[in-house]
Amino acid sequence: MQALPAEVLTETGFVTVDVVLHSQTARARRANVLVIRYRGRVYAYVNHCMHMHRPLNCQEDAVFDAERRWLRCSMHGFIFEPDSGICRSPVCEGQALQAVKVEETDGLIVFKEKQLQILAVQSPKAEVGLKHD
Ligand code: FES
Repeated sequence: MQALPAEVLTETGFVTVDVVLHSQTARARRANVLVIRYRGRVYAYVNHCMHMHRPLNCQEDAVFDAERRWLRCSMHGFIFEPDSGICRSPVCEGQALQAVKVEETDGLIVFKEKQLQILAVQSPKAEVGLKHD
């Protein structure tokens, strides 16, 4: 099980997690995953804006707009639905951030992708501990 302690994710914060996806297949690749809480639920996406291939927090330590209605790329301001990852800016309309399956249970945020491996966690405020076995 690959998981984070749920307390790392406040209602208004976010964390990013370096992972290996598909660690036991030829499709293995590293990725940075953005984990957010939105309207009480946890969502995770590969932290990669399709516009110019940057992490959403590349320019600022923030991934939401001021009202927390949209995920917002800090590079050029493209916006995404927090609960689906679908882009709502005209240039990338219809495209979506790559979702990563997560579930919050028993005080943990558990990654449900079978072969995902956590490498490191970054929090905007401080490094946090990991839970995995
Ligand atoms: S790189 Fe994300 S909006 Fe341009």
